Amino acid sequence: MVKGNISIFGAGYVGLTSAVLFANSGFKVNLIENDPKRLKILRSGKSFFYEQGIDELLQEALRQKNLSITDQPAVIKNSEVIFSCVGTPDNPDGSSNLSYIYSVAKTISENANDVAVFVQKSTVPVGTGENIELLFKKEQRKIAYVSNPEFLREGTAILDSLWFDRVVVGSNNDSAITKVMSIYEQLEKNKDKIAKIINVEPINKPSGKYIRTNRNSAELIKVTANAFLALKISFANSIAKLADESGADVVDVMDAVGADNRIGRAFLNAGRGYGGGCFPKDVSGLIASASEYGVDMPIMIAVTDINESMPGYIANKAQGELETLENKKVAVLGLAFKAGTSDSRKSPGVKLANILDKSGAKVTAFDPHANIEAGGDLRSSVVVKSSLRDAVTGVDAILIATEWEEFKKLNFKEIADLMSGNLIIDAVNILDPSVIGGFGLNYIGVGRGK
Ligand code: UGA
Repeated sequence: MVKGNISIFGAGYVGLTSAVLFANSGFKVNLIENDPKRLKILRSGKSFFYEQGIDELLQEALRQKNLSITDQPAVIKNSEVIFSCVGTPDNPDGSSNLSYIYSVAKTISENANDVAVFVQKSTVPVGTGENIELLFKKEQRKIAYVSNPEFLREGTAILDSLWFDRVVVGSNNDSAITKVMSIYEQLEKNKDKIAKIINVEPINKPSGKYIRTNRNSAELIKVTANAFLALKISFANSIAKLADESGADVVDVMDAVGADNRIGRAFLNAGRGYGGGCFPKDVSGLIASASEYGVDMPIMIAVTDINESMPGYIANKAQGELETLENKKVAVLGLAFKAGTSDSRKSPGVKLANILDKSGAKVTAFDPHANIEAGGDLRSSVVVKSSLRDAVTGVDAILIATEWEEFKKLNFKEIADLMSGNLIIDAVNILDPSVIGGFGLNYIGVGRGK
């Protein structure tokens, strides 16, 4: 059992979610963040990104005085468990930039007490924990090291954490594993109470697994899981290209293929490819880290190549339908890398808007939550609109790039009246082609036949 306090480095998606969940399970939590802008927003009880339930849990944790938000790493000196949730962005060569990881390890080595457990939650290449243990040894510290990878998805972060499939804890120190497991057991006991705070119905699903393993296996489990999900998506996209040429519908194909329990339907949605802060960097990080061990990963190189081809493939389809993109008005709906988040890092919607703009189209764009975040990555001639209506009025084509619920429920009769042209490009395959056709609109999806 953990009786002392918990410290968490990094108030990003993983760190902030963990902090508010642990604090609402009764732990005393220090959240350490050095960005002054983030600190100010968080202390006012608001998250700096959109995620269902996070603001309510943050406010409750602050109200209960179970959470303190600080930029002072020295607070860790009394902590029993210290989590690292800092970023591992990609280097220009695709490898993982571990400078934040090692800087946190150094801070811990300098400030933590010897009975503390250091828990690595950031996604790191296999072998990183071993290097950190060597660093502790060199500095004659006895701090235990544990790898506890995170599997939550942005947009469903809270629900994924409360109704988890598995908690993986890997270490060469058994009692440290037990200690970290006990935090998750306490979280699980509090899940109905937490669900009530954010006003969601408990999910009816069997309890998740608690998996104990060694440090290196835990590190590899995380990157393997993400790489495999990315592989499923690129596989679906390869089949989608064949479906386009052969007149099959990839949605029907994947529904039937995924009905086989051995395969599963999840992550077989073809479309504009994957984006975000995880899959692109984790796949390139895996390729780079394998090559450091002298292992080639041609399968993951193919996954990346297919993924990178998808926005251009869809833009070509649009060009095929419109004859030319030059001066054609196109509205891109969806700038977040997926629904449920304001995150637009490596967003396929942003890529598509930029490709269309570069090809001479007059592009308007709209996202219900990511307009501001995406703004800086869009070419200056792309015009971001604050309402969907403004974005689509007078356009020749609409391209849907994020699977937001509100895009699924669009009133296409009204949309048809607002548009000048009639082309709907569904880059996330969320619409029913026969319904769209009923309004005199021309539908093209990805892998849904000619
Ligand atoms: C991913 C993993 O799903 C999490 O388990 C993991 O914890 C997280 O990375 C991480 O490493 O932190 P996330 O990046 O939040 O989570 O988003 P996903 O829901 O996995 O989606 C990733 C991308 O794949 C999105 O752009 C999404 O639109 C795309 N996608 C997903 C598809 O194109 N097709 C699909 O069938 C599923």
